[in-house]
Amino acid sequence: MTEERIPPATLPLAARAPGKCILFGEHAIVHGKPELVIAIDLHTQVIIRGAPATRLNGDPEAIRSNPYFRTALEKAWSAGPPVDVRAVSRIPRAAGLGSSAAFVAATAAGFTASAGGGERSDLAQLAFTIERTAQGVGSPGDTAAAVAGGCITLNAEAGRLLWSVQDEQRSWTVRRLEDPGWIWVVAYSGVPRDTAETVRSVGRRLAQPDGPELLERFATVALDGIRAVVKEDRTDVGELMKRNQELLREVGVSHPRLEAMLDAVGPVSLGAKLTGAGAGGSLVVLPHPGREMEAARKIARVGGVAYVVRVATEGAALVPEGAPASTASGG
Ligand code: MEV
Repeated sequence: MTEERIPPATLPLAARAPGKCILFGEHAIVHGKPELVIAIDLHTQVIIRGAPATRLNGDPEAIRSNPYFRTALEKAWSAGPPVDVRAVSRIPRAAGLGSSAAFVAATAAGFTASAGGGERSDLAQLAFTIERTAQGVGSPGDTAAAVAGGCITLNAEAGRLLWSVQDEQRSWTVRRLEDPGWIWVVAYSGVPRDTAETVRSVGRRLAQPDGPELLERFATVALDGIRAVVKEDRTDVGELMKRNQELLREVGVSHPRLEAMLDAVGPVSLGAKLTGAGAGGSLVVLPHPGREMEAARKIARVGGVAYVVRVATEGAALVPEGAPASTASGG
């Protein structure tokens, strides 16, 4: 587990961070309700070197065209020299699996290391501030998982307190749960979605008269789900994932492609739901133990792209020289 500081390092350096999948509580977390997120073992890695001009993957225009890169430079590298940043990722983009949070967390970890190192709690706040500024809306769930790794709760009592993260209006507490060590399947529908737009549309739905009551139902399912994970009760976790999916349908963020994948994995899973913003994006599936590959095949047959994943126990970290960094440099 990564609780330790980000150590100092000199350029060139490599850093990486995991993607994430939300088991319970997406959307409701934006409104202060509880969430359970796991970091997954699909990573984004960045290599940062000094250079005559700043660019991302060879593109100097990225300073203007990529809001995450631009904001990371503004918030974490304003006094730094020009840098060449190369990013490679196994996380599909705009898929609800935390690709932007992983990019932001890895880049901010690299900048923090180069500026002399820092506390992980400060990196969590920095990564959230960057993602939030670039995206305009959202909660710190994705960046917290990318920075902390493992199994993370927000706004719940369960687990060991790591830190809290703020914006101008709200504060979210972040805690660590024991990873039950299960194998999950995440599956991209192939339909990209825009997190900001989806968060705003759910916000409008929740502003209707039954919004507060709907939010309470989200909170109950998330807290029950967190308790079931703590008890390592797969059956309950599966059932609660189904209940969470019903609520997500009710706020209008399911999609026919997601529903087709849900139907396909029904017979081989204890539960499944969309994960992240929805309206496209991805599913998370808790397969019956031993039926993970079957679940992946069933998803492929209806056009999804499935990944069999475990929890990534390590959060954002420098990559030791000579290790996977060398594979990334070609990408
Ligand atoms: C996105 O991965 C999850 C949402 O709850 C938005 C957020 O928390 O930032 C939809």
